[in-house]
Amino acid sequence: MSSAGQRARMEEFMARAGAFRESRVILVAVELGIFQTLAKGPLSAEGLARQLRLVPRAVTTVCNALVSLGWLKKKKGDAYSLPRGLRPLLDPDSPHTRVHGLLHTAYVFHSWAQLDAVARGQVDPGETRGKRRTRESNRNFILAMQELSPGREHEMAALLDLSDCSTLCDVGPGPGHYSVALAKKYPRMRFTLVDDPESLEVARDYVGRMPPAISSRFTYVPGDLLRKKKPDWGGPFDAILLSNVVHIFGEEENQAIVQRLAGMLSPRGVLIVRDFAINDEHTAPPVAALFAVNMLANTSRGGCYSERQVRAWMAGAGLSRCKTLDFPPSYLVLGYK
Ligand SMILES: C[S@@+](CC[C@H](N)C(=O)[O-])C[C@H]1O[C@@H](n2cnc3c(N)ncnc32)[C@H](O)[C@@H]1O
Repeated sequence: MSSAGQRARMEEFMARAGAFRESRVILVAVELGIFQTLAKGPLSAEGLARQLRLVPRAVTTVCNALVSLGWLKKKKGDAYSLPRGLRPLLDPDSPHTRVHGLLHTAYVFHSWAQLDAVARGQVDPGETRGKRRTRESNRNFILAMQELSPGREHEMAALLDLSDCSTLCDVGPGPGHYSVALAKKYPRMRFTLVDDPESLEVARDYVGRMPPAISSRFTYVPGDLLRKKKPDWGGPFDAILLSNVVHIFGEEENQAIVQRLAGMLSPRGVLIVRDFAINDEHTAPPVAALFAVNMLANTSRGGCYSERQVRAWMAGAGLSRCKTLDFPPSYLVLGYK
């Protein structure tokens, strides 16, 4: 290989290792409120620093880097502004905002920064995350579930045939967007959302913005999947949805959860488990293997689980008739009573 080719390969090698820089400069801008402030109008570095009580040198350097990446524009000498194409995503008041998603990603960044301490057994990430959690950070997390994969709820609703079901319990629903999409498809189905009280408030707010023909079919029940006592959530249910929840817990916890949920299904009811599709060796694809690292950094026992593992939990809970629907990068495993 030519020396120019070798140099290019080496640059690529180091660029991958240093890829956090680009991400961090974007995330710190949202954490500091730079994008949110510029959504109201252009400002100079001094103006931003004054309004946000920041160090002018830091604001100038971060904003200039964002201009270089195309995330900000610099016009009229010193004033920074949001590029037209990114404005709907970076304006917290826009219906297309991704600001909660970005704030949640920034929150998670701090967990990734302590991965070395997690690997050395010096911190329990579940405990650290619990201590860092605030009402605001939890609201960002819940709203991020919809913002980070917009439109997925409609794809999932199109994929699922629940025409035999008249009740669905969505456990750990985030803002409730998957149930809302199903409510649009099935106009007579009734929904029960189960989550911790703070998260349920966010869901109630989100669903409450839907037309009454949708929102009037929703019930909200505070509940904890880890509570051993038989939950009283108003079942039995024809369908139970557990979407992007099993990755929070360890394998034994999930076995117990699936067992408990199977006991809440009506005869011929279906438990739907959706999560990142990782292979049996847990080595591919990268999106799932990296998500497992996210769970290592943020939870005490969580991770990604293969379809085979989910089917084994279902079989152990007496849901022996199973089928899997591909929903890349996820699976939907359906287990029938
Ligand atoms: C990653 S979000 C998934 C949200 C949504 N289902 C989706 O697919 O986008 C995890 C959800 O599980 C909820 N959750 C976490 N631990 C829980 C527990 N022990 N009991 C009930 N819900 C829980 C969270 O509050 C959140 O709503």
